[in-house]
This record gives sequence, structure tokens and C-alpha cells, in this order.
Amino acid sequence: MKEQILSQMTTECPWRDTLYWYDTIDSTNTQAKKLAKEGAPAGTVLIAGNQTGGRGRMGRSFSSPEGMGVYLSAILRPGCKAEELMHLTCAAAVAACKAVENVCGIFPGIKWINDLVCGKEKLGGILTEMSVNADGFVDWAVVGIGINCCQRKADFPKELQNMATSLLLQTNKIYPPDLLAAQLTEALFEINNILFQKQQIMDIYRQHCITLGQNILVVRGEESAYGTALDLDEDGGLLVRFADGTEKVVSSGEVSIRGMYGYV
Ligand code: BTN
Repeated sequence: MKEQILSQMTTECPWRDTLYWYDTIDSTNTQAKKLAKEGAPAGTVLIAGNQTGGRGRMGRSFSSPEGMGVYLSAILRPGCKAEELMHLTCAAAVAACKAVENVCGIFPGIKWINDLVCGKEKLGGILTEMSVNADGFVDWAVVGIGINCCQRKADFPKELQNMATSLLLQTNKIYPPDLLAAQLTEALFEINNILFQKQQIMDIYRQHCITLGQNILVVRGEESAYGTALDLDEDGGLLVRFADGTEKVVSSGEVSIRGMYGYV
């Protein structure tokens, strides 16, 4: 499978030399973190046929059945302070959307901060993790991306069936995961080359962010508050006007949009 992925990439992309394929793995992010700690170079890419313990944000699991999706993690070493890398999930989302567009012509919507969506359903997600040293510098970052390619509704776990989608369900065509994996590796390489052109990245993200203008529920720990999503800053923070009239930038936690993923 590795050869199949490489044959669909340009020979110019240097990340092809540090690409690893796993038939099955618990989580490409977990393995990427292990390799990063052992000193694996920037541009190391891990791709799996299936994950037995695929992980999402907020401790959730990510359904990763054999041969049905792309499960990919890349190691980055951006050489900057953590506070300069707050937009990394947004940058990865832009790269993932570009890869999907290259493969099937659809540029997905982005539900802040890390979900790729088509209509009201989730097509994929991003999980970024990083290690920061005592001086605040990022030692390594791992960008994990999962995208549903070939699932029919019955292939998703019951509880996800009314909120998940795939490229097959969107287009009625089979797009093999290896084709998308090749495009995704190249798109991540390209976004990594312009990682600090934040405005350029966030302009694209903003254009496709379906959260903007919506009535939302912001949940942080035990607290939750209603508001309206107004804008994004260049670090990917979400500017929210809360029901009491105050405006604040939200940079973590969970945002629900009315009518999506079971929030009514
Ligand atoms: C989310 O939906 O909250 C994020 C999902 C991220 C899934 C990808 S699949 C490849 C990588 N390995 C993981 O365990 N998670 C990410």
C-alpha cells in the first residue's frame, strides 16, 4: 500500500522519504508521538489501514474501520513558541479540505475548530497534539487527520449514523483512501511551508467556516453559555458575542451549532 500511495504523489515532495504505512495500529497519533519523542524528523508521515483506538478531541474515539478512511498523522518541528502555533489545527483543516477538493471536487465546510463537514454531517476531523519545552518552544507537533471515504451509513457505529458522512455518501463514487492519503500528505507539506502566513491560511479557513454567524452553545468544563459566532482571529480563536452582550475570544472547549450533531 505504501508503494501505491507514493506512486500517486509527486516526486518533489520530500515527505515521501519518511512515510510509514501500518496495516493496523492503535492510533497513528499515539505512534507519531512515540516516534517524535525518539527524534523522528519533521515530515515523518504515518498512515494506517485501520486504527483500533483512533482518537478525537475531548477524549472521544474516532471510528476507523479497515480500508474505509484515511488515518494519517504527520510530525512537525516548526521551531517556534507554542503561542505562535495556536492556528495549527486551522492550518491542518485548510490542508485537509484542499486535499478533498483535489480528489473529488468538493471543498468541505469547517465546523470550528477541527471538524470537516458536508451539510450538517461530519466528514472527518483533526487532532493536533504537541510537546512544549520549559522555555515555551514547541519540541514537536503531531497533526492527525481522519477522513471518511468509503463508508455507507451502516458502516458507521449506530450512534454516529445520523451525523457522519463519507466521500462515497456525498458523491456516490468510491474514492480509495490511498489516493486521498497521497493528496493529504502533499497538502500538509505545502501548508507547512507557509505555516506562518497566518492571514493567508485564516482567510481560507474563514471563507469555509460554517460556524460563523451561527447561534452556538459554548461548553467549557462544567460551564456553558449561549452566543453568536462573529469572527475568527489570526490564531484561530473564535470571537463570540454572548447572550449578556459581552464579546470574548474562545480558544478552547467545545462549540455546538443548533441543528448539528444532535444539538436542537
Ligand atoms: C476529532 O474528530 O475530534 C478528531 C479526529 C482525528 C482522527 C485522526 S485519524 C488519524 C489520527 N489518529 C488518531 O488517533 N486520531 C487522528
